[in-house]
Amino acid sequence: MTQSTLLYNIGQLLTMDQYEGPVRGKDMGNLDVKENYAVLMKDGKVEKIGPSDELADTQADEKIDCQGKLVTPGLVEPHTHLVFGGSREHEMALKQQGVPYLEILKQGGGILSTVRSTRKASEEELYEKAMFHLNRMASYGITTMEAKSGYGMDKETELKQLRVAKKAGENHPLDLVSTFLGAHAITEEYKENPEALLDEMASLFDQIKEEDLAEFVDIFTETGVFTIEQSRRYLQKAKDKGFDLKMHADEIDPLGGTQLAVELGATTGDHLAVSTDEGIKQLAESDTIGVLLPGTIFYLGKGEFARARKMIEEGAAIAISTDFNPGSSVTENIQLIMSLAALKMKMTPEEIWHAVTVNAAHAINRGDEAGQIKVGRKADVVVWDATNYLYIPYHYGVNHVNTVFKAGQKLFE
Ligand code: NIG
Ligand code: FE
Repeated sequence: MTQSTLLYNIGQLLTMDQYEGPVRGKDMGNLDVKENYAVLMKDGKVEKIGPSDELADTQADEKIDCQGKLVTPGLVEPHTHLVFGGSREHEMALKQQGVPYLEILKQGGGILSTVRSTRKASEEELYEKAMFHLNRMASYGITTMEAKSGYGMDKETELKQLRVAKKAGENHPLDLVSTFLGAHAITEEYKENPEALLDEMASLFDQIKEEDLAEFVDIFTETGVFTIEQSRRYLQKAKDKGFDLKMHADEIDPLGGTQLAVELGATTGDHLAVSTDEGIKQLAESDTIGVLLPGTIFYLGKGEFARARKMIEEGAAIAISTDFNPGSSVTENIQLIMSLAALKMKMTPEEIWHAVTVNAAHAINRGDEAGQIKVGRKADVVVWDATNYLYIPYHYGVNHVNTVFKAGQKLFE
């Protein structure tokens, strides 16, 4: 294991180290770019940051000449459905014929198809698959990420998914943060009585706490899934048990999930593709972070992307994410999502870099650990095959990672 590594001749360095909290509104547009810098990593942590000509002679086990490359914090991915069985490529033809996502779900496909595969899969199979996707996430520059359950919706399978995520987090170099999404769809058994499904899922809260299986509770609030009233009751119970909250809110129909996320003091409201003006106003005045998922809107073939410009102009803190899952956004490529954020939501490159680092870290309660290159913190650092930060969203669809360091150790190069 390399104890110390010096990265020098860094063309552009983004440290994001001036922030104490999430970055809001117009501040997301100001990026501090350090030119010709060096970073010394020692014993897994950031030891020194300074001008390259001052640090170039520092002793280190390994010295890497970055030759003018861009260096940033390891990226943070705040919303994934990492653990699932099977895949749903057979649904692509249905989508092409114009069958809507919620209609496929209503017919027992979509999320419910993945529920069947996940129930059948063994813990070992799910674990191997999760590790495969985690490796791919890391290869795109992600060093910390969130993982949701939600393809069991029976007690046994939800716990199986959460245990798989926990084990993956313990064994993989990436840091994982777990979310319980037992309220993700209405299964056949509960069609006539969704409240009973919510009660069943809520009956797991104590055990999840005891086994330390999740920090967050999430729900899919949507037409044909859970209503605003059901979501409010369920999430309030979770909050009373000490969970932090997330919501799949205002993804397809504007039910007012954005406002509910704010009302309940949720850490994040996710999707927000069809948030109303009132929803955006409330979000901007709250501490709830908006997690926008343009890959999902693109993949579902919908025209309406989240109104990131309005959210930022009104003062909200925004993060972005892949929403990696087997149905509505089948990609681990966060760099592609950065391009979509630019092209489809008109976010500036400066805003986008805040959205994948510092703000994404706060979106999963890791603001004091991840998303910044800061002296004393874990050395999660990416060296890019690019000379400047504008280049990553610009050159789309490919992987620009040169080297990923997790806690000072090379993960990919
Ligand atoms: O964030 N909207 C609900 N859940 C996921 C999709 C899950 C799936 O289709 O398997 C989402 O889009
Ligand atoms: Fe999702």
